Parts: sequence; C-alpha cells; structure tokens
Amino acid sequence: MSLTRLIYVSTITSEFSLGDIDKILESSYRRNSANNISGVLYFSTRYFMQYLEGDRADLEETYARIIQDRRHANCIVYELEPIEKREFEDWSLAYIPQSESLRSLNSRFMQSAQFNPYDIPQQNVFAFILELKAYLPRVYLEGLTC
Ligand SMILES: Cc1cc2nc3c(=O)[nH]c(=O)nc-3n(C[C@H](O)[C@H](O)[C@H](O)COP(=O)(O)O)c2cc1C
Repeated sequence: MSLTRLIYVSTITSEFSLGDIDKILESSYRRNSANNISGVLYFSTRYFMQYLEGDRADLEETYARIIQDRRHANCIVYELEPIEKREFEDWSLAYIPQSESLRSLNSRFMQSAQFNPYDIPQQNVFAFILELKAYLPRVYLEGLTC
C-alpha cells in the first residue's frame, strides 16, 4: 500500500447538467468506498477540482476512469504525491458546491471571486484543498438552513 494523493482540475462539457452531480456522487461513493479511496469534489462556476487519496494503483485506475467521463474535459493533474496520512478519511467523497462563503477563499487564491482552478499556482493547490476542508462543516450547515 503506497498512500498517495491526486489533485486534478477539469471543466464541464455540454454533456454535463446539474442533475449529474447526484449521479457522479452516487457512483463515486460506491466505487471509492470499495477501493478505500477518500477525498473531496469541489464544483464552482464551470469547473471541478477534485482531491483523492488512497493506494496509488487504485487512484490511477480511478483517475483513468474519471478522465473518460464525457461530462468534463481538460483534466489537468496538479499533484500525484506520496503522503503519510489521509486528510479526508471520513469521506468517500465530500462534496462542496459553490457558495457565498467561499468567495473570499476564491479571491485569496485566484485574484478574483470567480473560481478558476487553472489560475491557482501549482504550489498552492494543496493549501487550497486544506482550506476547503476547513469550510466543510460550515457549508453543510448553510445547506441545512436553506
Ligand atoms: C468530476 C467528476 C468526478 C468523479 N469522481 C469520481 C470518483 O471520485 N470516483 C469514481 O469512482 N468515479 C468518479 N467519477 C465518475 C466516473 O467518471 C464514472 O462515471 C464512474 O466511476 C462510473 O462508475 P459506474 O459505472 O460504477 O457507475 C467522477 C466523474 C466526474 C465527472
């Protein structure tokens, strides 16, 4: 077992509609828990950023499947790195949609409140993911009060 993290970004295509999020999460929960993969999916504007952690071979197999998915394109890997410990061990795939409270995070990392993950310098991508993790409970609570 060589614990590894994978971070990539992608852009939605014309084959994607918002209703696909639930389908993506359903197959991701199922597949990731079977493969002992955990992580987070962030969706904002037209872009995805996904962080996955698990055994390297399982991650590579999963990523090979993900990039075949025609609902997104322009997948760019930012990181494929060995890690010592998991950051999202409780989540087969946490999901963070865009929200008002994340705008300030976007502008800190991207010079604008508009999320464009292709603009984040590679060395800051993992820090961005850790910031997202800190937002997780707050985003979920906001969701409950809506
Ligand atoms: C942005 C995005 C993220 C995805 N993340 C995962 C993931 O973490 N794990 C996974 O197994 N599939 C993920 N998928 C779905 C796969 O592309 C594919 O649809 C799915 O694995 C097919 O599984 P199924 O045939 O068992 O439903 C993702 C797809 C998209 C568009």
